[in-house]
Amino acid sequence: MNSTLKSTLQKQVSLKPFNTFQIDATAEYLAEISHPDDLTSIMASSPFNRHPHYVLGGGSNVLFVDDFPGLIIKNNIPGITVVAENTQYVIIRVGAGVVWDELVKHTLNHGWGGLENLSMIPGLTGAAPIQNIGAYGVELEKLFVSLDAIHLKTGKTESFDRSMCKFGYRDSIFKSSLKGKYLITYVTLKLGKKPAINVEYGNLKKVLKSEGIKNPTIRDVSRAVRRIRKSKLPDPLITGNAGSFFKNPVLSGTTYEILKMKHPQMPGYFLDSSGPHSFESGNTTSEQPVAESDGRGRVKVPAAWLIEQCGFKGMREGDTGVHEKHALILVNHGAATGTQLLKLARTIQEEVLDHFEISLEPEVHIVSNL
Ligand code: FAD
Ligand code: EPU
Repeated sequence: MNSTLKSTLQKQVSLKPFNTFQIDATAEYLAEISHPDDLTSIMASSPFNRHPHYVLGGGSNVLFVDDFPGLIIKNNIPGITVVAENTQYVIIRVGAGVVWDELVKHTLNHGWGGLENLSMIPGLTGAAPIQNIGAYGVELEKLFVSLDAIHLKTGKTESFDRSMCKFGYRDSIFKSSLKGKYLITYVTLKLGKKPAINVEYGNLKKVLKSEGIKNPTIRDVSRAVRRIRKSKLPDPLITGNAGSFFKNPVLSGTTYEILKMKHPQMPGYFLDSSGPHSFESGNTTSEQPVAESDGRGRVKVPAAWLIEQCGFKGMREGDTGVHEKHALILVNHGAATGTQLLKLARTIQEEVLDHFEISLEPEVHIVSNL
């Protein structure tokens, strides 16, 4: 092991400060990298080669169920660089270790539009493509140009453009066939200098109207998004959580129709022909609740509603629980373990399946030795 690595490699590290669920699991080894070259010595080391390894960003979408018996590689690669620009747009290359919301603020300060609806999402830029982060009518893929990533077997850097990433709703190729195979080092985004404002999602327009804002700027949109988020999402610094624990299920129109006969109050949002991203795309029609589906299109059902109907909203058992303002958010009230939270998640899945015949798929990455 070379001396640089020796100095950055820590042993028996508590992961509590490294995950927003605040789970007190222990990692056998932890190494932080601040430059892609740092990975060379890590990949040559015995902790990397003799043990499992896991790339971590801000830890805001992971649940550590057990102690981690290997090497956690914490990504801190910095930097926001303009690589091209003209009067219409700017292309920026962002280090994977840049805190996502710091990037959003940086773009707002420069008057570059595109990320304002994605304000206040926790975590780092390098993780944003993994699940194609989305909120308030925008998904990352809309701004995405490419990413650089190091293959964790060959050590080679490869570039992925948008089509190679196979983005979907809370999905990308890095969650399926390439899961765990790469460490993302840089993300390149294209932002507008004459931003198109998008306030069609949910109550964004209503909040802006209540503030008397008719022609919102990107800063207004960001402020409104922050206000909505603060009103319903728990602050992970106070209450451990990882945002939505499950993805919203997407059903065929026919399945939705059948279920709606049994459960007339079940909300649903019609996905138009523009594909699986449309419910996060800000298309007004795709966000309208459907009174009737045409039986052909797909329908997104809010997982929060299903969970609330099963009686979990606001429940607490020991230090595990479901947030009182949002049923899709599992919380750690203090000393919950990953195993306890996973047990609660499984109970919720079973109850929702029993009541509604719908399987909930976790959005959160469950890191377990099993
Ligand atoms: P981590 O949790 O550290 O990692 C997530 C996954 O990505 C892991 O599998 C990890 O191995 C992998 N990974 C991380 N970095 C890299 C890298 N550089 N290279 C390769 N793999 C990597 N998400 C949304 O989409 N929309 C929301 O509105 C939203 N709201 C949230 C609100 C709260 C309060 C919280 C706690 C979470 C929310 N999330 C939301 C989820 C989360 O913030 C995002 O998924 C975020 O992108 C995760 O970033 P992270 O750096 O914390 O990733
Ligand atoms: N609802 C309930 N009970 C609740 C909360 C919500 O029934 O306790 C119902 C309401 O009908 C509401 C609907 O659920 O209209 C949708 O709720 P919300 O607008 O809060 O959005 P969501 O579908 O729960 C999604 C993302 C969030 C993202 C918001 C805003 C997923 C899994 N979650 O939540 O992302 O911030 O939309 O765009 O798609 C995350 O991924 O971690 C995350 C927080």
